[in-house]
Amino acid sequence: MITVWANHLMKLAAALVALFATISFTAETWAEGQYPGRWSSAEVEQRITALLAKMSLTDKLGQLTQQYPEGKFADDIREGKVGSFLGAHGAANTNRIQRIAVEQSPHGIPLIFANDVIHGYRTIFPIPLGEAASWDPQLVEKAARVAAAEARASGTHWTFAPMVDISRDARWGRIAEGAGEDPYLGAIMAAARVLGFQGTNLKASDSVLACAKHFAAYGGAEGGRDYNTVDISEQTLRDVYLPPFMAAVDAGVGTLMSAFNEISGVPASANHLILQRILREEWGFGGFVVSDSKSVTDMVAHGYAADNDDAAEKAIMAGVDMDMASFSYRSHLEESIRAGRIPIAIVDKAVRRVLRAKFALGLFDNPYADPQREQSVILSADNRTLARDVARHSIVLLKNEGNLLPIGKNVRKLAVIGPLADNSKDLLGTWAALGKPEDVVTVLQGIRHRAAERIEVGFSAGCQIESATPKGLKEAVQLAADSDLAIVVIGESATMSGEANSRSSLDLPPVQLSLLRAIHAAGVPVVAVVMSGRPLAIPWTADNIPAIVAAWHPGVEAGNAIADVLFGDFNPGGKLPVTFPRTVGQMPIYYAHKNTGRPATKERYTSKYIDIPWPPLYPFGYGLSYTTFEFADLKLSTNRIGPFGQLEVSVKVTNTGEHAGDEVVQLYVRDLVGSMTRPVRELKGFRRITLESGKSSEVRFMLNRDHLGFHNRHMTYTVEPGLFKVWVGPNSAEGLEAKFEVTSQ
Ligand code: BGC
Repeated sequence: MITVWANHLMKLAAALVALFATISFTAETWAEGQYPGRWSSAEVEQRITALLAKMSLTDKLGQLTQQYPEGKFADDIREGKVGSFLGAHGAANTNRIQRIAVEQSPHGIPLIFANDVIHGYRTIFPIPLGEAASWDPQLVEKAARVAAAEARASGTHWTFAPMVDISRDARWGRIAEGAGEDPYLGAIMAAARVLGFQGTNLKASDSVLACAKHFAAYGGAEGGRDYNTVDISEQTLRDVYLPPFMAAVDAGVGTLMSAFNEISGVPASANHLILQRILREEWGFGGFVVSDSKSVTDMVAHGYAADNDDAAEKAIMAGVDMDMASFSYRSHLEESIRAGRIPIAIVDKAVRRVLRAKFALGLFDNPYADPQREQSVILSADNRTLARDVARHSIVLLKNEGNLLPIGKNVRKLAVIGPLADNSKDLLGTWAALGKPEDVVTVLQGIRHRAAERIEVGFSAGCQIESATPKGLKEAVQLAADSDLAIVVIGESATMSGEANSRSSLDLPPVQLSLLRAIHAAGVPVVAVVMSGRPLAIPWTADNIPAIVAAWHPGVEAGNAIADVLFGDFNPGGKLPVTFPRTVGQMPIYYAHKNTGRPATKERYTSKYIDIPWPPLYPFGYGLSYTTFEFADLKLSTNRIGPFGQLEVSVKVTNTGEHAGDEVVQLYVRDLVGSMTRPVRELKGFRRITLESGKSSEVRFMLNRDHLGFHNRHMTYTVEPGLFKVWVGPNSAEGLEAKFEVTSQ
């Protein structure tokens, strides 16, 4: 009897601990109706009520309208027809526009200026996929903080970031904007970015309102083709695509953007399941939702709305509070309301949410940007220093045969080759806000600066990024033949990834592969520095080139960061946030796949392709270092826990090589038998640690209910009793292994 009670008490205690953990976390969210809270107060709510009482229908729909500062926009402001602008930059410019709203619009309601500040504003950091490869959320948070400070100083109040879409198909160009294929890594990065953008106080001169996008499952586009249909189960929606959004909401994100795509037949911008049931009812989100650009009127083409009137009605009824760029609310909803098809209470609620954000940003008291601050904050030396640090943390060493890297003392003549070697604009990557090519340190510049007098550095582009023939090939080969080492910088231009830049091939552009082969044939040792907005299929490179560095698109400090890594001033420790395939034919490929009834083996009738080996070229979580690490002593605090219990997993990691370096210690689990089949491995914890040569560290993880469950057939999050495997290791394909059991009580 006593043990039964003790068990009950322990379970109760664990449940209370879990509950308090969520309460202290959710207290930071925009939970509707919970005021005074972090983002509003009783006084603010009263002021909004008073404003609503005075506002005409036009004024209200104006607050729900976002447009570009084009055409007769000044008249629109004076007539109360606009609540937000996107695409206005600069303190002086935004102040000028804001003054019209504050001084001449019907109620003097300030405008909220939005922009796509995705990976920096003027100081451009690595593309988000690259930042995720750092597996360092604190650093990613700092980068977002700098982006926020620059943007706010320039008059931007609201960023359309973070983009938290999970993508498992590298053909999709927008994979560059997110954190890759994994919901857990994606959730950690989503929260880090929200905290970085918003800080602890939205009124602060270095904070902007964040927007988690694109809600939801936009990355699940069939065939990786942008804007394409998404047809997934609700379980996959909840377990794979939604966790980063939920993490963003838990971290206090103020807004979400409804996506372009449909989800299993219903466009996201009119989707009651995600916008009402999940976002508002289950998560209690009290911020506002903005549509994606014209995603409301796109519903006509989707075949979900008869015309723009119908589209506007469907969107606002589903919970899209603000329309971006289609003007559908302001042009159509007045009639819908007068005709009684849309209750005014729905509009009032949306307006309240938008005004609440404007109050939270302090715009009613301080609507203007400070041009002097703009001068001092933008592209400051400190910001550049951080950009360099983030860029070098994001670099992944894929191969280093014979320790070709770091560049040894015996190298006297260095050939720097390739169309991306002295390129500045493409190194900024997609969605580079106000980033300017002239701000970028090219790879050649970074290498020359570091090599100084000691090494002779020659350069030849060898070819263009996508030309038909490699003009300049001969010269490049000659240069390589005359050098001790060739650094060949190849890959994608900035416009080969990003929105509407899906590719049907994941290969290096053929001309660049020819260049690489020719340099290799010259007999000189070659290091390939591969830049891209996505994982590329580089099987020939992997087989033939002794050293390979994945650098993504690294931003303004690209050249310095790459030189730091090549010369060994910084020991690379980034890991892949996404699987590298052998060929585009493997798409979609991701480590957390299901086992199938016929998992791939050498046997004939198993799940694989007949013309390639089944494993990927490089697995998720993979990355090397100039040193080596050993994992030992995997320990579990217990082998049995109840469904509300927790378990500590620890491992000893030792730096067994000769350099200090970073390892990303990764923990994966597998629920062996479920009421629904479970993935073969799921990431549930990681830590990037730095160890001196010869030193060890014990790394501990806590596993609990949050890590072990899934949404069952009834869409209830559940932890099922049974056996689990756990691995701790350096990537998703290796690791020490143990087992534990979740009991039913
Ligand atoms: C993109 C969004 C972006 C918006 C505004 C759309 O085309 O899908 O991600 O925030 O444009 O620029």
